[in-house]
Amino acid sequence: MRTHTCGELRNKDYKKSVLLQGWIDAIRDHGKMLFISLRDRYGITQVVVDDEKLIENVKGLGAEYVVEIKGTVRERPSGMKNQDIETGGIEVVASRIKLLSSSKVPPFVIKDPVMAKDELRMKYRFLDLRRPSMQRKLVMRSKVINTIRNYLSENNFIEVETPCLTRTTTEGARNFLVPSRNFPGKFYSLAQSPQIYKQLLMIAGIDRYFQFARCFRDEDQRADRQPEHTQIDLEMSFADDKDVMGIVEGMIQSVFKDVLGIRIKKPFERITYKNALEKYGSDKPDTRFEMFITDITEIAKRSDFRIFKEAKFIKALILPLLSRKMIDELSDFADKYYGTKISYISFKEPLSGNIAKFFPKELIDELKSTLPIDTEKTVVFCAGKWKRTLETLGAIRNRINIENATKDEYKLLWVTDFPLFEYDDESDTWVPCHHIFTMPNTDNFKDPSKIIGKQYDLVLNGVELGSGSIRIHRRDLQEKMMEIGNIRKDKRSREYEFLLSALEYGAPPHGGIAIGLDRLLMILLNEESIQEVIPFPKTTTGFGLMENVPSEIDEEKLRELRIGIKSPVNR
Ligand code: AMO
Repeated sequence: MRTHTCGELRNKDYKKSVLLQGWIDAIRDHGKMLFISLRDRYGITQVVVDDEKLIENVKGLGAEYVVEIKGTVRERPSGMKNQDIETGGIEVVASRIKLLSSSKVPPFVIKDPVMAKDELRMKYRFLDLRRPSMQRKLVMRSKVINTIRNYLSENNFIEVETPCLTRTTTEGARNFLVPSRNFPGKFYSLAQSPQIYKQLLMIAGIDRYFQFARCFRDEDQRADRQPEHTQIDLEMSFADDKDVMGIVEGMIQSVFKDVLGIRIKKPFERITYKNALEKYGSDKPDTRFEMFITDITEIAKRSDFRIFKEAKFIKALILPLLSRKMIDELSDFADKYYGTKISYISFKEPLSGNIAKFFPKELIDELKSTLPIDTEKTVVFCAGKWKRTLETLGAIRNRINIENATKDEYKLLWVTDFPLFEYDDESDTWVPCHHIFTMPNTDNFKDPSKIIGKQYDLVLNGVELGSGSIRIHRRDLQEKMMEIGNIRKDKRSREYEFLLSALEYGAPPHGGIAIGLDRLLMILLNEESIQEVIPFPKTTTGFGLMENVPSEIDEEKLRELRIGIKSPVNR
């Protein structure tokens, strides 16, 4: 219906007769003349209304009304040009204004930057998404998807959809369940990922598969987690880890080039899981900052501090000289989130810190040269189990550095050689660290702690962007891994028989990866929260404020599903 969008007209369109349609962004009343800023996805055009009758008409309109404006383009008088917007050199003199749709007064002003609270924005997401900055995010999301689709298609991958309604499999998070009307008392599960299906596609001979897959996980939410997210999921046959990594590096490179115009260097750096923990205290290290953890077990054990004498591992992190208040804050943080105590020494004469007195002069000198310390610094110590001590210091490392991190620096890193099993104190058994389909690097399975998997995680600026592995393609080996991971035989045959039996029909060697699309966008758009890049997100408790979900179901529906609610809990 329109001749142009609101972002299209320029000086070259001078004298053109045009028809625009859009939302009223603002009306400025100058008495004998009115200005309407007309907005759509493409921009804002200034409309001048100087006809008395039309002015009267406009007085009945307001912000967010949808109108159609017929008029003629003219160049704005010099001094009235607006360099900040692309249509700032012209204006449209209105000859007819038609109301297409009226609007209530919106609950917040639809302008950047938004002044409303997140809850209000989510409740009225359709209004929040009208803001230019939100629309830019959706445009970027679409651009990233297109770039990836083109890149993978050019590399011979084919896009295949896999079911969302599937059976419960153990993949780390809880499943969302969907009751079945046709099979009362039985449930589908919403897929946590297409993992098993993509392996079945390899067995089907698909060779190179990809999908923008919706994944559903009932887990505690965080700033980079949502109950439903999108994965760029891919799988390749007759491929080793280098092949998968190579494809992903090319894919990420094209995204950065097409979307941000930035050239990313290949190949990405690599570090093993063990070294990542030892050096950075994290399996997803932020390598933008040069601050490393040091093992000082041998020196610290010789101090007079009882806890150090008895500890298995003692690790240290050198920080800038900190005030007492900041150290107390870090101690509370370590205690609250890691259940760990930290201790410290501030290397500024006279020496201070809660454990300084336990270190004789020679040990202090030894510490100084080992760490090494040459200027005034605070050193934080953590003693205890290997992983816990390192992760505590890793979290402190992030906390201290994150504010000064350069936002437009992109450090990509592969973390490899993950352990496949970890000991779970609660159940007193070995459990898989991730999904159970990863190929082990060894055929010696005596000590589960030493079984390393052919797994690779992609990390960008301290965020786990993706995770993948070379898979097991033999039934006996797959069952062995399930046995070590304490997936009981009855559960194995109930949950995984369809995969196990498929592995007996000529399964090719294969591997793949899934990259979190929402997390990738979060970083490309410099956002702190995943909610900002998802069109219709849930709150951190998983609630849909706009649709009011989850919600109660009619008695009749429940009866049909043969479901009785025992004790509703009101949140
Ligand atoms: P994984 O569970 O590690 O692996 O998920 C892959 C990537 O998906 C993203 N992601 C999430 N993003 C937002 N909200 C969530 N709740 C969420 N959970 C995961 C992360 C993560 O790195 N099937 C395997 C992949 C494979 O082995 O091929 C899988 O799903 O960016």
